[in-house]
Amino acid sequence: MQAAIVTGASRGLGLALCADLLQRGFTVIGLARQESTALKQLAGHHPDRLHFLPADMADSAALSGLLAEALTLLPTADLQQLLLINNAGVVAPIASAGFYPTTELLQAIAVNLTAPMLLTDALLRLSDDLDCQLRVACISSGAAIKAYPGWGVYGSSKAGLDHFCRHVAAEQQERARPALIAALYPGVVDTDMQATIRSSDPAQFPNKERFDALKRDGGLSSPQQAARKIIDHLLSADFGQHSVLDIRQLPD
Ligand SMILES: NC(=O)c1ccc[n+]([C@@H]2O[C@H](COP(=O)([O-])OP(=O)(O)OC[C@H]3O[C@@H](n4cnc5c(N)ncnc54)[C@H](OP(=O)(O)O)[C@@H]3O)[C@@H](O)[C@H]2O)c1
Repeated sequence: MQAAIVTGASRGLGLALCADLLQRGFTVIGLARQESTALKQLAGHHPDRLHFLPADMADSAALSGLLAEALTLLPTADLQQLLLINNAGVVAPIASAGFYPTTELLQAIAVNLTAPMLLTDALLRLSDDLDCQLRVACISSGAAIKAYPGWGVYGSSKAGLDHFCRHVAAEQQERARPALIAALYPGVVDTDMQATIRSSDPAQFPNKERFDALKRDGGLSSPQQAARKIIDHLLSADFGQHSVLDIRQLPD
């Protein structure tokens, strides 16, 4: 059997990733702070294959135990392939250095960078006995390489995530049965995160007009389109060949 653990499963890209995986026959464990109505509806269509685990990605100390709990929900002896998709993320705080709210900054680094590191670490440690193929996708952002004033916290957390993937990929190359890992940029996707960006203060985020225009001119991809491309790539023979990849470079 094939299974996936997806963080940020309640809405946006994470919800679409869960739906796509379920359609392909995967058993899915979705993590978020709360089970949204949309995720409950999805579980209603797939009662045996979608499990929800409440989890706060900012609660760093709990994450290793959480990954262990997720594995107990899966018939690990039958697993042929196990995916971890580190998708949960926050764009806040949108502010320039000199104006950072400390609590929000710490929360963003915990959710966007520390959580993927700890969940991946726990998966690699706890799956030592599993006879299955492991693939880890970390949902990153073009903000990891391009500097947008006001996104210093977000962009730095994603740059850290990219480099984490490069390191783990290099480490795994030495293994007899390497886990595959990559950071993937999903493009500009029509989710709550984009709504947050469009509602930001232009004084804090001078590029706001660019994102307003993308929405106005139909320049955003749907969560379903982005999810399909991510899963197509994650399941392909090419996955892991690039440890950082913008999915817009992949053929439709
Ligand atoms: N949308 C875009 O254009 C875009 C572009 C580039 C990269 N990305 C990346 O794509 C990923 C998904 O973003 P999205 O656009 O789908 O965002 P979204 O619609 O705002 O959804 C964010 C998801 O992350 C979860 N999350 C946030 N804080 C959490 C916490 N403390 N603990 C647990 N879960 C938490 C949310 O769950 P709850 O709040 O229900 O707990 C929700 O499911 C993110 O990593 C983002 O950086 C998005």
